[in-house]
Amino acid sequence: MNPLVFGVASVPLLGVNIDHIATLRNARGGNHPDPLLAARAAVAGGADIITFHLREDRRHIRDADVQRIKADIGVALNFEAAMTDEMLSLIEQVRPQSVCLVPERRQEITTEGGLDVTGQLNRVQGACARLTAAGCQVSLFVEASQAQIEASARAGAPCVELHTGAYANACEAGDAALAQHELERLRQGMAAARALGLQVHAGHGLTLSSTGSIAAMPEIRELHIGHALVGHAVFVGMEQSVRDFKAVIMRASLARTAAAS
Ligand code: PXP
Repeated sequence: MNPLVFGVASVPLLGVNIDHIATLRNARGGNHPDPLLAARAAVAGGADIITFHLREDRRHIRDADVQRIKADIGVALNFEAAMTDEMLSLIEQVRPQSVCLVPERRQEITTEGGLDVTGQLNRVQGACARLTAAGCQVSLFVEASQAQIEASARAGAPCVELHTGAYANACEAGDAALAQHELERLRQGMAAARALGLQVHAGHGLTLSSTGSIAAMPEIRELHIGHALVGHAVFVGMEQSVRDFKAVIMRASLARTAAAS
């Protein structure tokens, strides 16, 4: 439950993705910097959720990190994973509060595109049923497409996380027209998801400058942010970086609520 409620609108929760602390650690081997310490600092800075992606190739977060984080961190955990039997079994053991099912390709640098729910509806349905039975809230990481969102509802997922990568990339490239187009696509996707009774999350590629427009959307319940937040933390520290992103989210949410009243 989001404790910060203003009028009818609530401030979106921030999930801090700590994968890239592990990327940095793994670049040299050894234990530093420790993703668990990053998660603790993120919580101290106000993170509502700790998010991590245990990839099949274990290129950043590893199994032992998941166990340590689960044992230590008091806020909700959001476990991002591919829909493989190995990952589903691991999730059933760990039992995080939330799971986000994502597509995974070995060669990609980061998660490219959303999960193809329409093309594998039965398989996604099976995964959602299994994870729901394990007590996890399931979200599907999908593009803001009507077909994928409708299929997500049919698959039995209570939430979708909409892929904000194209919007964030357009912002980074300074292409205002494309950013506007992508924002509109996300707006329509969020409205479609809510109309189907789905909870709406969003993430990927968001920075301090592109987060506000997404946080201002009334349907948004959670934002999951990693790379830019960890990058900002290099200069200001993890706690302050989380505070800075939280402030952007809070400002956007308050401005929207004020405009609506
Ligand atoms: N949400 C999902 C489902 C992701 O796969 C990722 C990247 O792991 C993120 C959010 C965070 O993306 P970024 O690191 O670009 O902020």
